[in-house]
Amino acid sequence: MTTLTFANGDAMPQFGLGTWKAEPGAVGAAVTEALRLGYRHIDCARIYGNEAEVGQALAEAFKGGLRREDVWITSKLWNDAHRPEDVRPALEQTLADLGLSYLDLYLMHWPIAHKPGVTLPQTTDEMFMPDELPPSETWAAMEALVDAGLTRHIGVSNFNVPRLKALMESARITPEMNQIELHPYLQQPEMLAFCREAGVHLTAYSPLGSRDRPAVLRQENEPTLLDDPTVAEIAARHGATPAQVLIAWALHRGTAVIPKSVTPERLAQNLAATEVRLSDDDMAALGTLDRDARYVSGNFWFLPGSPYTMETLWAA
Ligand code: A2P
Repeated sequence: MTTLTFANGDAMPQFGLGTWKAEPGAVGAAVTEALRLGYRHIDCARIYGNEAEVGQALAEAFKGGLRREDVWITSKLWNDAHRPEDVRPALEQTLADLGLSYLDLYLMHWPIAHKPGVTLPQTTDEMFMPDELPPSETWAAMEALVDAGLTRHIGVSNFNVPRLKALMESARITPEMNQIELHPYLQQPEMLAFCREAGVHLTAYSPLGSRDRPAVLRQENEPTLLDDPTVAEIAARHGATPAQVLIAWALHRGTAVIPKSVTPERLAQNLAATEVRLSDDDMAALGTLDRDARYVSGNFWFLPGSPYTMETLWAA
């Protein structure tokens, strides 16, 4: 399986399993089946509320002979633990839930800080404003986690280019990953170019359009990526499925990609997408589909008085 190489030589499998929206009760079996099929990269987060069950599945797999160093595990710091003194305890909780002594990659999930104890703010009073708690302060605490051997790499998620640039300027350990929404309807060419130049890897989340998002994250009349006729046409020519074409597109662009499934047949189908070879013409046709359409808009934070709006959160 193809990998992305980090500065210290560590190799992250480009293809991984997403666990957002994988419910407790289903996620463990999905991780077990994925590892059995040959997945070697599992993407987790504290906010997904399922890390303990992922940990049980990992423990079973380790008992069955899988070695810790053979699987890449990512998790993410939730926004309620951005205060520097809260960062290490948050990672320690994730490690305890996952049953691990270290992560391969720990990401700041959003560039947005909540006051402690606030999972999702209902008012701006429940948020730290960026000048009260800039991401650079949280980042310094994340750097200390690398020093302590609790995670091998650190990075960010949902950062736009200006925020990523600003963080890189103050960072001692440069962010090595930005995990963002990427698919043919949201191609983000400027982000790709910036990260290629800066040596930051990208991971594509919601690569299939995340149709199983909770209602609060859905918009009316949103386009359905998996039903796109161009994707369907390319899939038919390759004897592949639309999902496989979407995954192959992300791999061909040199990003990591983490489709979520809890369905055994789809887990196998998605892994087999690593064998789909798209032509330059296929990539060009998919390239025309960009419409700047976000399935994950960050609307949780667009509260009255919040500095975050669709424009300010994502502006290039
Ligand atoms: P399920 O988990 O029930 O199999 P994303 O990765 O963009 O968040 O998308 C996840 C959604 O796509 C889930 O609803 C998942 O369903 C579904 N899905 C995953 N793999 C496939 C596939 N190969 N074909 C169709 N739908 C898929």
